[in-house]
Amino acid sequence: MQDPVRIGLLGCGNVGSALVGLIGDNADVVAARAGVNIKVARIAVRDVARPRGVKVDQSVFTDDAASVVADSDIDVIVEVMGGVEVARKLITDALLAGKPVVTANKELIARHGPELFALAAKAGVDLLFEASVAGGIPLIRPLRESLAGVRIRRVMGIVNGTTNYILTRMTESGSSFSDALAEAQGLGYAEADPSFDVDGIDAAHKLAVLTGAAFGARVNFKGIYVEGIRRITAMDIQLAADLGYRIKLLGLARETAYGIEQRVHPCMVPLDAPIAHIEGVFNAVVIEGDFVGTTMFQGRGAGQGPTASAVVADLV
Ligand code: HSE
Repeated sequence: MQDPVRIGLLGCGNVGSALVGLIGDNADVVAARAGVNIKVARIAVRDVARPRGVKVDQSVFTDDAASVVADSDIDVIVEVMGGVEVARKLITDALLAGKPVVTANKELIARHGPELFALAAKAGVDLLFEASVAGGIPLIRPLRESLAGVRIRRVMGIVNGTTNYILTRMTESGSSFSDALAEAQGLGYAEADPSFDVDGIDAAHKLAVLTGAAFGARVNFKGIYVEGIRRITAMDIQLAADLGYRIKLLGLARETAYGIEQRVHPCMVPLDAPIAHIEGVFNAVVIEGDFVGTTMFQGRGAGQGPTASAVVADLV
């Protein structure tokens, strides 16, 4: 087997530490599928002294992310640090240096995807982002490859684990909104700023990424209608149940005569629809296309393990 592929990891929080764990625990599986060993050679973090609970030599850590990107011994950059402007600059520099990039950064792809994809194409390298939408559920690759022969008409689903967890807890256990949010934060599902989850912004980022992959569209993120779950009360949930519905935060993109409509808002979903029964941190996305009809993908939409598995798939 040839020399290992050397990864420069930007960020080692929830997802980054799970990624290091997965690459260590499943080294044989990953190597067999990739045809090459994958080694996390350098890790850039803000605070080198903070314990990360990962089995790597302390010497791989640095607080100088730019030096990791510029390091000629690094073959691939993996960005799991989040945020937009610093990540955008580092990924731009990596692509300009001819390094492939894997990212889990939905906000970055939603806002600056077209510019970064153009750079990657010019450099002749990959910029992959499966982990940016719906954690461990394969969606980007199915949209781009498995469904490449059909015209997509509609993409619709639950793409935020935190809000689905909150709505589930409020429905099934009568938890208060704030208790359920605190639980989701404790489980590592929520964004650093949980208003991104609760106000539908995270779902809108993911919808924009999906729309780009599904329709080949250049998405105007600001044009997405966004409404979160802050105003949903226990009484709304009870009344919906009495009428035979569940309240779910859905993202929806569809082709219309005037272009692609995109919206994120709470919906009344009839109990006989499969998506009404997607609970907790699980996400589900329904894709409708000509010839193929309806397909549905479901699984864990947030959490360190599922997200790390999507990052490693892109690496392989
Ligand atoms: N905060 C996000 C969610 C994390 O709850 O879905 C995964 O993207």
